[in-house]
Amino acid sequence: MSSLADSARKPLSLDGISNDTVRKAYDAIERMSGGDQALALPLYRKFREQGPLVRGDGGYFPEGFVVPPQIAVELLARGTPSAMTLNHASLREAMSDSGRFGFDAYKNLGPGRTPLLTDGQEHRRVRILLAKGLNPKSIRHWEDDLINPVVLELIGRFKSRGKAELRAELTEPLPARAIGAVLGLPASDLPQFNVLALLQQLPHTEPDSHLAMSRLHAYFFEQITVRRRLTPAILSQREDVISLMLTARDGNDDGFSDDEINGILHFLLFAGTETTNRTLANAITYLLHDQSTFDAVRNDRSLVPKAIEETLRLAPGGALNARVARLDTEICGVPIAKGTLIILNILMGNRDSDIWDRPDEFDIFRLPRQHVAFGVGGHMCPGMHLARLEMKIALNLLFDHCTNLRLDPDYPKPELRGIGLIGSTPIHVLFD
Ligand code: HEM
Repeated sequence: MSSLADSARKPLSLDGISNDTVRKAYDAIERMSGGDQALALPLYRKFREQGPLVRGDGGYFPEGFVVPPQIAVELLARGTPSAMTLNHASLREAMSDSGRFGFDAYKNLGPGRTPLLTDGQEHRRVRILLAKGLNPKSIRHWEDDLINPVVLELIGRFKSRGKAELRAELTEPLPARAIGAVLGLPASDLPQFNVLALLQQLPHTEPDSHLAMSRLHAYFFEQITVRRRLTPAILSQREDVISLMLTARDGNDDGFSDDEINGILHFLLFAGTETTNRTLANAITYLLHDQSTFDAVRNDRSLVPKAIEETLRLAPGGALNARVARLDTEICGVPIAKGTLIILNILMGNRDSDIWDRPDEFDIFRLPRQHVAFGVGGHMCPGMHLARLEMKIALNLLFDHCTNLRLDPDYPKPELRGIGLIGSTPIHVLFD
């Protein structure tokens, strides 16, 4: 592929951002994860016995219920009538029918007009752009040339130490770097890119969030501009996501503006970093707690995707999404008034005992059934191939390079926490 080498280009800078700020950002995101599974799950199950949805009248759900603060807080504060889906059928019905259930609950999520706020023709246009960028011409190229090197670099930093904390040293830094790699960013910018991606997820009231957002904005424009200067023939040979998006055409054969592409690139970082980081950490935690499954997967790598799917079912990085009813309607026969905020509980959808036996058990050998971790309907996650690939590569390379991987007895065992965002506590490991 042709090079984009630009000798005048300044490296992506972290001026004005301290290490302390980065740690504070991790802590702030952790606080947004909301809720204790051990308390909330039994409560959800109790209400599930009474029906497929539970109401939160006047904005109040029963005590102990967890709602996603970053999505719902403003609507709930206004006393908006609300309901939460508690099984697979109610979740699928509300999530997949954008004619009856709209996206206003996402107004405060991410910069500008994100894909999750769009609808109809506008959304179809955005999906063309996402499909062009996120369906690689060659998955092998993504795997061998782009993501393998990122994972190897991260593992290389702790390999000789014989011990590591896998959240801070592998699962947190991986997704933004992997996204940066497939976007075609210079490898030397990826560590700084990772920091800015993290900081832009802080609440908008935080000055560091603005700093990160504006620096990324300028950086994306620079990357777009360098590619716009290429001849059409050269640009069309390039396989990075930004170049692919620049050559995308909508149904009317129109291209996409720099602003549209810039907005999508920001959103990929919102949608694809914490989700993948947490799901990967959750998979590692499940495996480290279950020696026989761990051994089976390490010895037969065709089981790696099964371990990933079972983790996506039981503990996807994000588990609460939302819609707003556009009209008086019903879900699974339960009447729903226009304007009702519907909280989509993916965790309960994926643990529905009508669909899965022993739904709360981690069992990678169960028959494949359709989990809803990546959503359903028109807004289903377009980043799922990338997420699955990152997790598969990370698990395989961890098995290859860290033999006899085991929990470090000097630290507390990792546990899964949170409902809005589900994540593992630190994963301290030893290896030979
Ligand atoms: C394990 C990791 C991931 C999980 C569990 C996940 C889950 C989801 C879910 C449930 C939705 C639908 C939300 C709704 O309908 O309300 C979604 C949408 C989306 N995801 Fe992911 N995601 C993951 C990784 C990624 C990655 C790596 C990317 C891209 C780099 C990405 C990009 C997107 C985008 C752009 C949307 C919006 C699509 C639209 O509105 O049409 N996601 N994701």
